[in-house]
Amino acid sequence: MPAFPLEPGQSQLLHGPEEQHEFGAALAPALPPAAVLFLEGELGAGKTTLTSGLIGALGFSGPVTSPTYALIHAYPTPVGRALHVDAYRVRSVQELYDMDLEDLIAGSRLSVVEWGERLYADYPDAPILRLEHLEGEEDLRRVTRIR
Ligand SMILES: Nc1ncnc2c1ncn2[C@@H]1O[C@H](COP(=O)(O)OP(=O)(O)OP(=O)(O)O)[C@@H](O)[C@H]1O
Ligand SMILES: [Mg+2]
Repeated sequence: MPAFPLEPGQSQLLHGPEEQHEFGAALAPALPPAAVLFLEGELGAGKTTLTSGLIGALGFSGPVTSPTYALIHAYPTPVGRALHVDAYRVRSVQELYDMDLEDLIAGSRLSVVEWGERLYADYPDAPILRLEHLEGEEDLRRVTRIR
């Protein structure tokens, strides 16, 4: 399996949505079956763009949109289901587990989880990426691997 593009603690600058998308796509071969990828990042930081690149690289060709209202989006890909979860408005971790999230993750090729801090301890092998705007640089984002 190819190495994950960033080591923990490393950052990379991404110039424009295309690079953001490409970075996401490059993660796909480095994430094993049933992998979880955690994303942190404020409004507009590029979470959906990165996720779209990643899920697109698994072979899903339709649109990938923010799961803000649905909480979980599930995309069929030729290599298995891809989940995109937004835990931002979830009040307790119990609420997530009540949705059978654990089984959903176990049965998926990949799960991208936004704002999933409360699951970090339960998925210790899952990389965490922080996406950030840079002051005064509208056409740039920074991605840092936290873990
Ligand atoms: N690296 C980048 N450089 C410049 N613009 C970018 C970059 N990545 C994404 N964008 C643009 O920033 C905007 C927000 O991106 P995106 O929707 O992916 O963010 P998000 O983190 O999912 O936001 P939200 O929290 O609202 O769901 C989009 O217009 C997107 O094209
Ligand atoms: Mg989004």
